Amino acid sequence: MQGKPIINGVWSSHWIFIFAATGSAIGLGNVLKFPYLVSSNGGGAFILLYLVCLLLVGTPIMIAEVFIGRSKRQNPVYAIRNILQESGCSGRWSFVALAGVLSGFLIFSFYSVVIGWVLSYVVGISTGDFIGIGMQEAKQVFYQLRDTPETILRWHSFVVFVVMLIIVGGVNRGLENAIKFLMPVLFILLAALLGYALQTGNFTKGFYLLFSIDFSKLGWDSVLSALKHAFFTLSIGVGVMMAYGAYMPKQASIGSSIFLIVLLDMLIALLAGLAILPMMITNNMEPAYGMDLMFVTLPVAFGHMQAGQTIGFIFFLLVTTVALTSAISLMEPVTTWLSEHWGWSRLPTCIFLGIMVWAFGVTALGSFSFLSHVEIMGFNLFYFYDFVATNIIMPLVGLFVAILAGWIVNKRILSEELAMKSVFVFNLWHITVRYISPLAVGSIVYFMLVEKLSY
Ligand code: PHE
Repeated sequence: MQGKPIINGVWSSHWIFIFAATGSAIGLGNVLKFPYLVSSNGGGAFILLYLVCLLLVGTPIMIAEVFIGRSKRQNPVYAIRNILQESGCSGRWSFVALAGVLSGFLIFSFYSVVIGWVLSYVVGISTGDFIGIGMQEAKQVFYQLRDTPETILRWHSFVVFVVMLIIVGGVNRGLENAIKFLMPVLFILLAALLGYALQTGNFTKGFYLLFSIDFSKLGWDSVLSALKHAFFTLSIGVGVMMAYGAYMPKQASIGSSIFLIVLLDMLIALLAGLAILPMMITNNMEPAYGMDLMFVTLPVAFGHMQAGQTIGFIFFLLVTTVALTSAISLMEPVTTWLSEHWGWSRLPTCIFLGIMVWAFGVTALGSFSFLSHVEIMGFNLFYFYDFVATNIIMPLVGLFVAILAGWIVNKRILSEELAMKSVFVFNLWHITVRYISPLAVGSIVYFMLVEKLSY
């Protein structure tokens, strides 16, 4: 077996694992991508479709990833290599896991830029910059921020520093302490926003807007989007769940933990939508989505409503918290891999990775200014990184994990490690991960390669 088993410790409780994984899952995807996908694909109809994807693809693969991590207690690349070799296959295929681990870099680089924008709004809103602002003006503020590298560079450096400071502490002193602080903050901030939304008097309207079902807007593209989003939001296909799973206590049940995490991720995505929509309705605004929602429309709403400064501050702080718990998870797999691979302790590994990821992030933040002339397949670097990670690497790694768990690993080993109480549920999981998940994920990979890359 290659590499020493476990060098980093174990989460001090089963619940910490659940919160850490939930923290990774809930991220910018829930606040930036999900509302946009729901609104442009028929509301409740998309939510139903997405639930099916979570159940048939996301959850089974997530269980498989945590299984891989916990059974070997090593970094994702070594864990996969050992599993392959024990099953009589070539360990070389572990390069797929390496691609996943390295794609954490891609996601982190645009994540860090967005966190930089969000932090600058935390400051801007609380100092009253948006009071009474109009749409046009708000747009200008955002574009100016986005296109001025100096300001964002400072925030980006700050974000990389904070994340690496947490990571360097390792699983217990670093990750665990951060999670113990950030997750309660996240729940309290979200509850505060929901409380506010409830008293605007437009909560039910927001509810109908979110859940109204329009099947005519669903198409093939919606299925692909739902599948891809299931990967992104559950943080699968990048080694995060394998790395976090490697620290999971042995006696904890993988299956039920993952169910809870998926449920929480979904619930919080919906609650975030329910907190935001009533505010838009109260301010007579057309709901916008994606970047425009967060950085233009909402700030205008905050600038015009009662207690807008406080509510806006809470909102952007919430987004920061949500994004930070995901950002740290993105750096963990590559940190454990490098330190186990080179035999380095965490400090030099984190310094090295910090510099690398900082430099990489600079290319993402420069996509709107000094690197705006660089275009790949019609995307600037910022969007290209997202494209490669979400459309290609995550589904490929997911497909690989599904094949590994469904076809390669001995069923007895799986059943021992997962130790599910019900044989029926275990068999259901096994059949899904063997047939349904690979077929579904294979179709994303196929469509992405055939449709998008063939021009
Ligand atoms: N799940 C995070 C989100 O929804 C993104 C993420 C992807 C985090 C992969 C870690 C790993 O924003």
